[in-house]
Amino acid sequence: MAPIGTSERPLRVAIVGSGPSGFYAAGQLLKNRSHPDLNVQVDVYDRLPTPWGLVRGGVAPDHPNIKAVSRVYEKTATHPEFRFYGNIQYGVDLTHGDLVDRYHAVIYAVGAQTDRRLGIPGEDLLGSWAATEFVAWYNAHPDYRDLEFDLSCERAVVIGNGNVAADVARMLALTREELAVTDVADHALEVLADSAIREIVVLGRRGPAQAAFTNPELLELGEMTDADVYVDPRDVELDPLTRSWLESDEAGATQRRNVDILSGYASREPEGKRRRIVLRFLVSPVAILGEDRVEGIRICRNELREEDGSLRACSTDTIEELDCGIVFRSIGYKGLPLEGLPFHERSGTIPNEGGRILGEDGAPVRGEYAVGWIKRGPTGIIGTNKRDAQETVDALLADLDEGRLNEPADPSRESLEELLNERKRDHVTYVGWEAIDRAERAAGEPQGRPRVKLSTADELLAAAHEKEEAAR
Ligand SMILES: Cc1cc2nc3c(=O)[nH]c(=O)nc-3n(C[C@H](O)[C@H](O)[C@H](O)COP(=O)(O)OP(=O)(O)OC[C@H]3O[C@@H](n4cnc5c(N)ncnc54)[C@H](O)[C@@H]3O)c2cc1C
Ligand SMILES: NC(=O)c1ccc[n+]([C@@H]2O[C@H](COP(=O)([O-])OP(=O)(O)OC[C@H]3O[C@@H](n4cnc5c(N)ncnc54)[C@H](OP(=O)(O)O)[C@@H]3O)[C@@H](O)[C@H]2O)c1
Repeated sequence: MAPIGTSERPLRVAIVGSGPSGFYAAGQLLKNRSHPDLNVQVDVYDRLPTPWGLVRGGVAPDHPNIKAVSRVYEKTATHPEFRFYGNIQYGVDLTHGDLVDRYHAVIYAVGAQTDRRLGIPGEDLLGSWAATEFVAWYNAHPDYRDLEFDLSCERAVVIGNGNVAADVARMLALTREELAVTDVADHALEVLADSAIREIVVLGRRGPAQAAFTNPELLELGEMTDADVYVDPRDVELDPLTRSWLESDEAGATQRRNVDILSGYASREPEGKRRRIVLRFLVSPVAILGEDRVEGIRICRNELREEDGSLRACSTDTIEELDCGIVFRSIGYKGLPLEGLPFHERSGTIPNEGGRILGEDGAPVRGEYAVGWIKRGPTGIIGTNKRDAQETVDALLADLDEGRLNEPADPSRESLEELLNERKRDHVTYVGWEAIDRAERAAGEPQGRPRVKLSTADELLAAAHEKEEAAR
């Protein structure tokens, strides 16, 4: 038999998930320098009819330049050996066995699909939301379209000090005019534009020096058209432990700059804008309060203590209650287990070594790989996934060279397409996605918006299949 990766026997790779990590892995396989003559076919699956993962469903609508990274993925999709199969959910429409029977290698790139929990009373009250839900709703993710966010209260509280918390705070503070030129979901545009919220309080459990914001995102909060930023000067007075940490090599330039930015905010005079964003530090939520729905939040003051080489937030007896009508918990995303694969519950990742999935016995499972957030956890910007994908792809190609890939029963493309047509006739090909893309952009053009997103599964599938039928 011809070796795998030749024209008689192309290397067949499935990638489950079409976010940045899946697309970078696809691109690196299809155009790799270490194996220039490799004959490889890459099939990328997604549970949604649309590709790009969090680039479409996470990145904030007022950050169109960041979304432009999709051009790189569009280029990958033009490769003749690339296929996209949308509206196919691994574990539901396609099983582990289906893939093992048909591919030499499978790369799991499913991201982190849920949120971390605070584990405090009142977390499930009406009006207490995970940032994951709010973000997916304003970005037109079809599973979240019908959520109802009541923004009729005066004060919202955002828990967490990462860039997602910054996105949430900014989205709550943008003006109608600013929102109207973005690709924010139409259903969210009206609700956000009519919001009565006047104060957005962002709670950090540690100090300004430990906040996870990156500098540009923190600076943006101070440049809102219609919201003043407020930091209590006492919150930027650094404790001795933090001061010596900041002077040490452990602290990075980002943390030092964050402290400077926040000190600048603390000395600002408010300009009397319609809203204000209050950044608070060294406070943790201990309970979300209310009878039937959120009415307030109880927070405790923290102090930092050194534990296991890092500065941890430890609660004190100082308690405070804040009235608020809505709470957004933005303390991180979390991966979910996948059918047929090992899973590390605490980190929410697939156990792996450099991308090679490890079985129960700790040894690599033949032909199975992970990439992106499901590989390393829910941190890192889009570009981080490029390097990460390279590591996984390098491991896969090394295994190809060493004869360590899977030997599928029937790797032909025909067998796969037969199966998909049987299982899920309404799957979406790349032609279908391009039709959705064109329809959305065309709807956006007269309004001066990048696109008007289709936000229900029915609308998306109708737009996709109209063109696919014509192409058949
Ligand atoms: C709210 C938010 C905003 C962000 N903004 C920025 C930003 O402005 N700039 C920046 O650089 N980074 C940003 N990031 C980080 C960036 O989005 C991530 O680093 C990146 O998306 C992770 O890529 P991924 O491919 O691992 O996961 P994802 O992007 O989540 O992609 C996973 C894909 O897998 C699919 N999938 C999941 N389960 C299944 C299944 N069972 N079967 C089939 N398909 C499945 C999903 O539908 C999805 O398309 C942001 C992150 C978030 C959460
Ligand atoms: N514009 C952008 O580039 C952009 C936009 C959005 C997201 N992203 C990236 O996407 C990744 C995910 O972002 P993220 O904001 O979800 O995660 P993140 O950066 O990990 O931030 C999570 C925040 O939640 C806090 N937290 C965790 N558990 C908590 C608890 N029990 N109580 C109170 N606070 C708690 C953390 O504080 P501790 O530090 O104390 O743990 C941290 O401040 C990040 O790498 C981010 O940079 C980038």
